[in-house]
Amino acid sequence: MEIRKAVLPVAGLGTRFLPATKAQPKEMLPIVDKPLVQYAVEEVAASGVPLAIFVTGRGKDAIEDHFDVSFELEQMLAGRGKEEMLRQVQSVSGLVQMTYVRQKNPLGLGHAILVARDLVGEEPFAVLLSDDIIDSETPCLRQMIDVFTRYGRSVVAIQRVERRAVSSYGVIKGHAVVDHNWKGRLFRITDMVEKPQPRQAPSNLAIIGRYILTPAIFKELSATGRGAGSEIQLTDALHRLLEKEPIYGYVFEGQRYDAGDKLGFLQATVEIALKRPELGKPFRKYLKSLKL
Ligand code: G1P
Repeated sequence: MEIRKAVLPVAGLGTRFLPATKAQPKEMLPIVDKPLVQYAVEEVAASGVPLAIFVTGRGKDAIEDHFDVSFELEQMLAGRGKEEMLRQVQSVSGLVQMTYVRQKNPLGLGHAILVARDLVGEEPFAVLLSDDIIDSETPCLRQMIDVFTRYGRSVVAIQRVERRAVSSYGVIKGHAVVDHNWKGRLFRITDMVEKPQPRQAPSNLAIIGRYILTPAIFKELSATGRGAGSEIQLTDALHRLLEKEPIYGYVFEGQRYDAGDKLGFLQATVEIALKRPELGKPFRKYLKSLKL
């Protein structure tokens, strides 16, 4: 079955970036020259998924405006003969189809997914958390869709992290699946827990913000009470789903940046700037000139 819809929860308050996020969504903070959320939407488009469903909240209008057609701006750029800029601005609104639904109460990631239930319907779908930027040859979501196409079950992106970092993540336990297509990268999950203390963690395989979910997750989400941080956690609902269906963990290929964290945000900025054709050379020269 095809993955036609991607849910992007963007209702979070962004408290880690205050005061920058006091009057603007954290998803609109730019990495070089694109807002965080655009990286995620570009990944959706590059993975062949035609529809993005944004789960928004108060104060998030700028996201909707960003992906809309900006008539005045386009007229102005066209009038001034700024063809390249015009092309870039137009490409943002043409990436994929988009629709928006509001999460009225900030009750957590699990709750945000549940809010998208009617828009998703009875079909498998993707979830992308825009805090996680993943730079890879084949888009991470595309890699996961390929796993889903083979196994027809929910797939969560995972990555090994340092033991002491596990308390920032959902953590899985699983056994390796023997499959020559994904040698050592695919796990059948046997347990998962949200934000465990390092000593209680079942492994150091952390969930990263990319998921392919079967629609059976909705029933589990609606039966999931508040968990870590007093929020309705997607990991807890997946844990319930495990009793009914297999779930796979997939160690994706690519470089992931945690742009939801200040240090990760800076690392993403530096590394992505270094990879930009027009910026890389002078920026590298500048970095080298710093007497660190
Ligand atoms: C969320 C999920 C967590 C996952 C993480 C990945 O947590 O709840 O399981 O490991 O995203 O970025 P958050 O970072 O929103 O606290």
